Amino acid sequence: MSYLDSLRCDPSKGKVAYSFSSRSDYLAKLNGFVVQSFLKANSTDHYEHEVHARTEYEFDCGRSETIISHGQIFYSFNGSIVHLNSHHGDHELTCNEDHKDIIEKLKTEIRSNNPLRGKFVQVVTCDDEFRVNIKNPPTTELAECILDASTAADLFENTIDQLDIGADNGIILYGPPGTGKSMVCKAVAHAALKKGYTVCLVTQLINFSQLAYFVDRYLAPCIVIFEDIDSYAGERLQGEGRFIADLLQMLSGIEQRERAVVSIATTNHLDLLDKAVRNRPVRFNRKYALDLPSDHQIDMLIDKYFGVEVICPAQKSLCYQRGYTGSHIAELKRTVSNITRREKCDEGQAFERAIQTVEKHFPSHTKTLGFN
Ligand SMILES: Nc1ncnc2c1ncn2[C@@H]1O[C@H](COP(=O)(O)OP(=O)(O)OP(=O)(O)O)[C@@H](O)[C@H]1O
Ligand SMILES: [Mg+2]
Repeated sequence: MSYLDSLRCDPSKGKVAYSFSSRSDYLAKLNGFVVQSFLKANSTDHYEHEVHARTEYEFDCGRSETIISHGQIFYSFNGSIVHLNSHHGDHELTCNEDHKDIIEKLKTEIRSNNPLRGKFVQVVTCDDEFRVNIKNPPTTELAECILDASTAADLFENTIDQLDIGADNGIILYGPPGTGKSMVCKAVAHAALKKGYTVCLVTQLINFSQLAYFVDRYLAPCIVIFEDIDSYAGERLQGEGRFIADLLQMLSGIEQRERAVVSIATTNHLDLLDKAVRNRPVRFNRKYALDLPSDHQIDMLIDKYFGVEVICPAQKSLCYQRGYTGSHIAELKRTVSNITRREKCDEGQAFERAIQTVEKHFPSHTKTLGFN
């Protein structure tokens, strides 16, 4: 019989109860995971009592652990008996001694050592419920992105460096489809994760007030990426005004934040964004245009995807004036690989045919030069 078992602790003996309540089922699970893991790891003994339900909590990409969602656990912790009563999202803690120190330790643990720290997470809403998916971290380096030199030089200064100095900031990446906006986000995310910051991806309309609470309490210092923000913060979405007001409040950080948050938004339609999102300093302070690549950038994209000097200048020039983007060149590479595999020819020979195939599926509009 264990020490705790023999004590058969009576919860009513505990002094003041403390409740780690949460604003959603997801956060309840997250709190439960942190509290239960920490107490278990630091207790000399523990005893489960009247456990009615357990639940899976994913603490890393594809890795989960079972926690008690409805039941009681007694821990022998630092010479005291701690009683945790987990009940439908509430985790109530009592102790046979003064438990102020334990509560403070657990609060710090939830804030600074929760399993989402330093991870790449995506926030989604499912049936009005706030959920968090942990994703594989991106591996893209900024050097892989073919960009204007001025944009490349400025990007980290306005994102990662801001986190380093503890300042909030926001940037917008805008331009036509396929020009590398998401790729740049991945590169910034990769660099931020390498430095131990958390990155949070938002791709849909969600409850931004809940997001702000979650980001401040669980993730910051972090980067929040609003992919294709026009689809949920566009001027035409005034019906969603309540949400946009919450988003604006989150972005301007009306409440003084303890830890910095840097926002990155991407859009094809800067002009469709709510004016208050797009045209008010403090929210998004830099806007970077990722336009169609210049001829020189097309050369660089071809060298990047095919290798230097694999495709000759005359063939490269076939891609100028077609309105091609980085995504067209990536698709050309894929098509060329299919042809060389099938026909055992070299990439140079397959290149022109690949252009014809890509044209068929993605008809390009020849760029107009000069004035109309
Ligand atoms: N500037 C670039 N440098 C290198 N590769 C690029 C660049 N732009 C696009 N690509 C290639 O095309 C793919 C698609 O680009 P990406 O998803 O970043 O475009 P996007 O601008 O986000 O498009 P959308 O507006 O449709 O979301 C990238 O994964 C990459 O392989
Ligand atoms: Mg994109």
